[in-house]
Amino acid sequence: MPGLTIGDVIPDLLVDTTHGPIQLHEFIGDGWAVMFSHPGDFTPVCTTELGKMALYAEEFEKRGVKLLGFSCEDVASHVEWIKDIEAYTPGCNVKYPIVADPNRGVIRQLNMVDPDQKDSSGEELPSRALHVVGPDKRIKLSILYPATTGRNMDEVLRAVDSLQMTAKYKVATPVNWKLGEKVVISPSIPNQDADKMFPQGYETVKLPSKKEYLRFTQIRSRL
Ligand code: BEZ
Repeated sequence: MPGLTIGDVIPDLLVDTTHGPIQLHEFIGDGWAVMFSHPGDFTPVCTTELGKMALYAEEFEKRGVKLLGFSCEDVASHVEWIKDIEAYTPGCNVKYPIVADPNRGVIRQLNMVDPDQKDSSGEELPSRALHVVGPDKRIKLSILYPATTGRNMDEVLRAVDSLQMTAKYKVATPVNWKLGEKVVISPSIPNQDADKMFPQGYETVKLPSKKEYLRFTQIRSRL
């Protein structure tokens, strides 16, 4: 069976976390969630990643996004590990829950297993998987990094901004876009509709093909 991917509804699992049991769909509610997995507690890259996420938690909260970490050890281990995470990243406070998954049932169902990594007893390990889940409980974006490459949490935040912008308006975000910059009008929107949809106006870039598909407009964001 192919693994969970973009467009799929995440399974409504009951998971054990540092904040007690959490039912995934109820946790997401009407908002968004970033669910991110880690190869293990007390490992160097993961320790830096969870601290950075905690520093950015307020930014995610402003966007209506809940954070949920995953690592395979048990809750007692996570609680001990959080002390290291907070010591390493000054000013961070890990307030988001971390799922415990000693039997790997959760990471398997969420397609977060690294096929190349096993622990000393031959058990599967999570990859650095990250799903952004929308209010409809569907995966809107998924990234997959190997254990040896830490993620860029600025990029996660930027991608959330793009997902939320493009969920609301018939636009797409161009290369290296950041919140506040111009967006492009979706190619499926003909000019006569674009005129009505974007009363603020738009600029069409002149291209050698003479095709009018690269149209920039400004959308004021309210964060
Ligand atoms: C780390 O988090 O640093 C890590 C974990 C597993 C393999 C390699 C690095």
